[in-house]
Amino acid sequence: MRFLKIIFFFIAFQLSAQQGGMWIPSLLEGMNESEMQSLGSTLTAKDIYDVNNSSLKDAIGHFNGGCTSEVISPKGLLLTNHHCGYSQIQSHSSLENDYLKNGFWAMSLEEELPNNGLYVEFIVRIEDVTEAMLSGVTDAMTPREKQSKIDINQNNVLKAVEKEEWHGVKIRPFYKGNQYYLFVTERFDDVRLVGAPPSSIGKFGSDTDNWVWPRHTGDFSIFRIYADKNNRPAQYSKDNVPYKPKHFLPISLDGIAEGDFTMIFGFPGRTNEYLPAVAIEQITQKVNPAKIGIREAALKVIDANMKVDDQIRIQYASKQARIANAWKKWIGENLGIKKTGAIAIKKDFENEFAKAVKAQGKDAQYGNLLGDFEKLYSDFEDVNVKRNSFIEVFIRTNELMQMAFRATQVENAALQSDAAFEKARQSMIDRLKGIHKNYNVNVDKGVYKAVMPLYNPDAVDASIYDKTAFTDLDKALALFEGDAETVVKNLNNDVAYQYAKPMVLEFYMRLEPEFQETNTQINALQTQYMKALMEVMPKERYFPDANSTLRVTYGKVNGYSPRDAIYYNPVTYLDGVIEKYVPGDYEFDVPQKLRDLYELKDYGQYADSNGKLPICFLGTNHTTGGNSGSPAIDAEGNLVGLNFDRVWEGTMSDIYYDPEICRNIMVDLRYVLFIVDKYAGATHLIDEMKLVHPKR
Ligand code: ARG
Ligand code: GLU
Repeated sequence: MRFLKIIFFFIAFQLSAQQGGMWIPSLLEGMNESEMQSLGSTLTAKDIYDVNNSSLKDAIGHFNGGCTSEVISPKGLLLTNHHCGYSQIQSHSSLENDYLKNGFWAMSLEEELPNNGLYVEFIVRIEDVTEAMLSGVTDAMTPREKQSKIDINQNNVLKAVEKEEWHGVKIRPFYKGNQYYLFVTERFDDVRLVGAPPSSIGKFGSDTDNWVWPRHTGDFSIFRIYADKNNRPAQYSKDNVPYKPKHFLPISLDGIAEGDFTMIFGFPGRTNEYLPAVAIEQITQKVNPAKIGIREAALKVIDANMKVDDQIRIQYASKQARIANAWKKWIGENLGIKKTGAIAIKKDFENEFAKAVKAQGKDAQYGNLLGDFEKLYSDFEDVNVKRNSFIEVFIRTNELMQMAFRATQVENAALQSDAAFEKARQSMIDRLKGIHKNYNVNVDKGVYKAVMPLYNPDAVDASIYDKTAFTDLDKALALFEGDAETVVKNLNNDVAYQYAKPMVLEFYMRLEPEFQETNTQINALQTQYMKALMEVMPKERYFPDANSTLRVTYGKVNGYSPRDAIYYNPVTYLDGVIEKYVPGDYEFDVPQKLRDLYELKDYGQYADSNGKLPICFLGTNHTTGGNSGSPAIDAEGNLVGLNFDRVWEGTMSDIYYDPEICRNIMVDLRYVLFIVDKYAGATHLIDEMKLVHPKR
């Protein structure tokens, strides 16, 4: 007995040391399937992904290309995060109907709100097309030659795909271009807003709690997919009907306990797990600090304005959240890389790699890789930092500079052809209208004064704000009236345009080409390095970096120890919401109704076995941006959680995953249902779901 226990301990230890990875759902048979089962899953690879029968994957939708969502009823009800539906919630909001602040609940199908431009995409089928994509590609080719051969191959593969005419198709590189997979997709464009809690629930804790555990946020919103009468994708029409999905996720009312298996199914955006140490050094010591500095400066201005003016709060809510989110993540990433000693660990690993290359007599092929990385990264450090700073100032934070930057593209198009000019003008007009829908010139001017010194300290001139046409929608639109020549003349007479143009030209003529030149070589090297790793050290665990394609990651419910003597429990309760409550605070206010329900302990069927109402929980699932809104699925295939974040100590997992402290954060589905049912009274939504008790 004792002996068995020891063996089990070793097996369990091995497994826990082996976590991490975002796996391709069509390739789970074998290693992943047995790993999942040893963690407690009863699911087979085919339960998760099957082409001929409905499977879990049919419930998982890419939400607007950025987040994940899942179908939770036979009538196309769709669950995602509050922060994923945020810009839709925001765009339906006004001072009179402040859905951001008060929440929104459609009490019937008629009240569900259409969202122009919003779409959800499902994966019909995944195919390995590596052979066809790389046919005729040789090591002797330059990166350019390789790419053009690959492009030709891609056209041929795409032409030959068998699919329904309404299906989409795309091909993506994996393992740094050593493998290629094809995705047949089905995209729905009529997706309506059904419900959202107030921000004091959906965004509870706001920036202070963002990326942090313990967490008490009800980060969810609900949409519905509509289809035409044949259940096919269709543009918005009032004649469309709720979509009947191939699969929807039943919801478990039994929740989770520490040690339970969980699986996250979704569309992780981007990771970089196979970078050389020198790259991580550059990211954390040069690039991140530059970007953090610029965003911090912008946020100071935006935050201060949002706090004192409700109109500005609504206008800038979505932009502020976007800017603040990455800002805080980069800070955490830097801390995590430092704390785990990731750079030294990578260097040790590289020494092992170099030794193995030698031992296997592969020096001629792979002996120069690491040295070449060193050289290339040092070559482009300055331009890399400068280019990133340009993007932060001219695209991410300062709206006047963004308008001027885009306007140069119109001038550029005018030099090419009438058709190009017309197209650029139209997209500029759309962009101006988009920006001005939520624009406050004083806020933007403040942002300009804060960020421009960090990009070009010798050329700060806020007086451009007083004379430019861009800060007023009508005047800005007038710049783009007339033929190409007139528009170009108008633009070049505008002070902000005159001001920005030399910097934009420097970006296009110098920064971008210099960056791309080195970056192309780095990418080619990274392709080689990935190949070499898998060949020379075949026993390591290799999963392809995230690339916004459908992936499965799995682990178990687990707390962690962030610092000496501290252990974080993996589950939070409503009691913690009340502990954090600060009346009237912009981050920690709690709605009266929720406090009342807490006083009455009126949790209905949603309480945990200890009588408390669970809010959030932690898992060892390896996730990243894009996994927001992903379902956490239990050992039987039921929905138990909604992924929305990672813990502060583990945000470096995009470049270095450490199973000791990397945790994903999920909302407990019982909290979601409690809010829908007891808080909002939207019981008709509960009625269309399938609630189950797998543990009884
Ligand atoms: N950090 C999470 C993610 O990366 C949640 C972001 C939304 N919340 C916020 N306070 N901005 O997207
Ligand atoms: N909040 C992230 C998102 O929007 C998910 C958290 C993460 O980056 O892991 O996708």
